[in-house]
Amino acid sequence: MVSGLVFITIQLLRSVKNDSNHIQDSIISKIVSTPDSVMDVLKNTCFDCHSNNTIYPWYSNVQPIGWLIARHIRKGREELNFSEFGSYTPRRQLSKLTGIANSISDGIMPLSSYKLMHKNSILSTYEKEQLIKWAQQARDSLSVKN
Ligand code: HEC
Repeated sequence: MVSGLVFITIQLLRSVKNDSNHIQDSIISKIVSTPDSVMDVLKNTCFDCHSNNTIYPWYSNVQPIGWLIARHIRKGREELNFSEFGSYTPRRQLSKLTGIANSISDGIMPLSSYKLMHKNSILSTYEKEQLIKWAQQARDSLSVKN
């Protein structure tokens, strides 16, 4: 009974949503050459936590799941925000591109809780190779410039 009331009450405490529809000039594809096929994979598998454009699932309106999702998005964006990549220092851009390649080859990204709920975010071997190659090439092109 009490837990039922708590459940109903916490539904009123919503997190602020991260869903700017605006495409920023600092988005990664405007900084390093990014084929559409790579951008599609990033959008489908990383952008919900690492950009200013999250597509929220219905269950994000159910607390406390919504809070956990909001926390992943907040922490994910602190570490890496594809929408604001252009505002990073050259040094940070290079280290993030290395981080992207590593997180994919180590299989730690996307987070497993996310893969559980978004089956289409599980990267195929081909997609992994494609993303790693892209991140390495992007890194090389930036280190030539800087
Ligand atoms: C469900 C949310 C979520 C998704 C989806 C997700 N990440 Fe993350 N990511 C996080 C969180 C949260 C962190 C912060 C570290 C931690 O708590 O594990 C993080 C950290 C990172 C880091 C930082 C590591 C570092 O050392 O700088 C990189 C790189 C990264 N993610 C890349 C990706 C890539 C690439 C994808 C898509 C293939 C992706 N992530 C998908 C939530 C997510």
